[in-house]
Parts: sequence; C-alpha cells; structure tokens
Amino acid sequence: MREIQNSPIGIFDSGVGGLTVLRELYRQLPQESILYFADTARLPYGNRPSGEILQFVREILTWMAQQNVKMVIMACNTSSALALEAVRQEFDFPILGVILPGAKAAVKQGQRIGVISTPATAKSNAYRQAIQEIDPNAQVWQIPCPEFVPLIEQNRIWEPYTKQMAQLYLQPLLARNIDTLVYGCTHYRHLETVIKGIVPPTVNLIDPARYVVQAAEKELKLMALGQTRPALPTRFAVSGCPQTFSQLSQQWLGYHPTVESVSLPTMVTAAVTWEEVEMLE
Ligand code: DGL
Repeated sequence: MREIQNSPIGIFDSGVGGLTVLRELYRQLPQESILYFADTARLPYGNRPSGEILQFVREILTWMAQQNVKMVIMACNTSSALALEAVRQEFDFPILGVILPGAKAAVKQGQRIGVISTPATAKSNAYRQAIQEIDPNAQVWQIPCPEFVPLIEQNRIWEPYTKQMAQLYLQPLLARNIDTLVYGCTHYRHLETVIKGIVPPTVNLIDPARYVVQAAEKELKLMALGQTRPALPTRFAVSGCPQTFSQLSQQWLGYHPTVESVSLPTMVTAAVTWEEVEMLE
C-alpha cells in the first residue's frame, strides 16, 4: 500500500491559469508529485454564478479524493473566493486557497492595493475583506477583467488588442496611484510582460501563487505529509480537449504534456442548497 506522504498534491483551475501555481510548486517543492486538473469544458469560471462554481468545485474535489490526493491547492482565485469556506470541512485532506496568502503578501508590500481579477472574484469582495482584516488601514481597489481569461486561453497574449484591454483595465488603478498590484486570477501572471509594460516599476507585483506554495510547504511539514520518495511525473487531466490543453501549455512548461480526458462525477441531486446560494450571493 502507498503511504499517504507519497500521494500527489492535487491542484486545479478552469484552464491554464493553474500552471502559474504548478511552476511555483516545481520551483519550491520539486520533490512533490502533482496531479493537475483543468476544467476546460466549463471555462471560464469568472462569469458564472457562485452556486455553479461551488458545485463544480465539489465535483472536482470528489474526483481528486478518488485519486487519493494528500492535499489540494485551489489554483484558482474564483474557486478560492466563492467555494473554499464551504468545502473545507467536507473532505478529509487539507485544502488551500490563493486569496489569503495573496492578501498577506500584499499588505507586507503596500497600503494602496489594486487587485485585478475575474468579475466573480471582484464581486465577492474576497480580497478587500482578507486584506482589510489584516490591515484595516489598507486601501483596496478591485477591477474585474472579463476579457483576460478568454484571450489567454485563445493564445492571444501578444496581440495589440490584449495590450489595449490591459491598459483599459489598469488605468483606473494607476489613476489611484496604487503602490501594489495583486494578480487576483492565476491566469494573469501569463500576462506579466504586457502588464509590466504598462505599470510603473515602482509598483509591487504580487503573485499569490508564490505564497500559496509557501503555505503548502508549511502545512506539509506540520502534518508530516512531505514526500519521502522521488516525485512522479506530473499527471495532467482535463474535462475538455486534451490536445488543445497540451498545445497551449507547452509555452509555459517547456514540454508537451501528456493529458488525459476525464469526466467528472456529476452531482445531479441538489449539490448546492438554496441556503448556500443565498449565503454566497
Ligand atoms: N484562473 C482562475 C482564477 O484564478 C479562473 C479564471 C476563469 O476561468 O475565469 O480565477
């Protein structure tokens, strides 16, 4: 029987955004085996109602539990903002989200904090709440950027249109004289070159991916869950087209990953109760 320490860490996102967390895992925890799931058949998440996201997250975590993961990192801000609290107690492995580690890192760097995110994350107010709980004097401006995820998933990062959209989204934050900018969606780090071309170099850029992996390392130590054998190759699975994901990912991974297609266990019967939907809205 395989000991739990040598089970993989599960990470998931709607698409290629989670690769920014995967890269941090490779950098900070190279000894760990990883299972990566992308819900590409249902992407983007960021325009969806919270009840739907909660249901998707439950389906993904149920599948991850069947794969015997020892921990899950939600490599998705939208899921972390809308579903983490609800699902944390429902599974018997630790589940980490990106919002709190990102918020903690942001308040260490500045007081005038801009957050770019999906519309669902901005609407949830999760970053403002997390930041102001740590530092009530910090000012927070959240800007929804609905076009970014589709542009990244369509591999249109280098088109002039993407730069124009970035200018449009960032302009109100620059007008507020922010000193810190949080990538409040894991996809956005893929736009770093475009964003750095617009934001002055004095603005601190915070990628929560880096800090959630630091938190994961602490948690693994605390629970004595660190891997004891050499890491296995990362296993990739998607709900949509495996070839599309493999081709798109290559630019960030440096290799063509082998990608499996999976259909998630669908939770047909009232996976989300009306009370939960009301609580989330
Ligand atoms: N990358 C995800 C996030 O961090 C989801 C983006 C989406 O599918 O809209 O929010």
